[in-house]
Amino acid sequence: GGTGYLGTHMLVELVKQGYEPLCVDNLHNSNPSVLLAVKEICGKEIPFIKADAGDVAAMRALFAEYQIHFAGHKAVGESVAHPLMYYRNNYDSALTILEMCLKHGSALVFSSSATVYGVPHFLPLTEDHPLSAVNPYGRTKLYIEETIRDVALAHPEFNVSILRYFNPVGAHESGLIGENPNGIPNNLMPFVCQTAAGIRKELQVFGDDYDTPDGTGVRDYIHVTDLISGHIAALKKLETKPGCIIHNLGTGNGTSVLEMVHRFEAVNGVSVPYRIVARRPGDVASCYADPSKAFEELGWKAVKTLDDMVRDSWMWQLKGAKN
Ligand code: UFG
Repeated sequence: GGTGYLGTHMLVELVKQGYEPLCVDNLHNSNPSVLLAVKEICGKEIPFIKADAGDVAAMRALFAEYQIHFAGHKAVGESVAHPLMYYRNNYDSALTILEMCLKHGSALVFSSSATVYGVPHFLPLTEDHPLSAVNPYGRTKLYIEETIRDVALAHPEFNVSILRYFNPVGAHESGLIGENPNGIPNNLMPFVCQTAAGIRKELQVFGDDYDTPDGTGVRDYIHVTDLISGHIAALKKLETKPGCIIHNLGTGNGTSVLEMVHRFEAVNGVSVPYRIVARRPGDVASCYADPSKAFEELGWKAVKTLDDMVRDSWMWQLKGAKN
């Protein structure tokens, strides 16, 4: 997933930290030209190989000390419509990568999601909150996590970091790399950006009758560069051979849809027309992290503010996003 939203930000930070990354992607959802932007930011050409993470022969030829696996599809609605595609792409390719890790003694950082907590029983979400899944996308994340735990039990020498992302937003401060969703965005921030840019007429706010301060859904938005610095902290931890470790990557702050919209307007001096519509099926009222375990064990915490997130998302919309 090296040419995707998180992958490109990871490449930039790996180079900055003195690592020598190799980028692998099947280009299903991205374009290799983003590597030119990565080069412009970090001054280094990243070697690239077009391959699919589920292609056992291709993966056999590619191994490294550390594997960072971002190659997952991530649209909940699409996963409901095409469950087998999700199980094949997300679950099957994770099995291939796990096999290669064991074979070559590689450590692994796996991108999981707060979706594995299902409907929260308590907030903020700690890593020991019970796990469940409510759609095929969530099930792929949950099954991969469970599989990793089985593998780690059977192979105590295997070092693996499971990172549970909350809601990644924002873009590199250069405005050269960011998220490029195909078609109509599912997620709030790209939709807000496209509405402010006049590409979409109005934002639909999915429900204002939740049990939250203003009735709209509350999420833990985290700036993508903070999320990536969490991966660097996890890589450094893996060097100490910790076995299987699991951490939330969130800020610990909940922000409602309307708070997000109003901050976006105030910080960027733009208008985001919106309309309240019915709740989106499957949405929960509130979801936010307790990020203290990552601070205690990895020495990591998010430092960027909501203002940074809305400013950098908007800059990316203006400079780099394909419209
Ligand atoms: N929302 C709107 N209008 C939109 C889009 C979103 O009001 O057009 C609202 C949602 O109802 C929710 C909030 O904005 O309250 C955030 O929605 P997103 O779709 O941006 O994010 P989700 O929290 O629903 O989903 C994210 C990831 C999923 C993951 C999930 C749970 O995108 O991959 O968190 O971890 F499964």
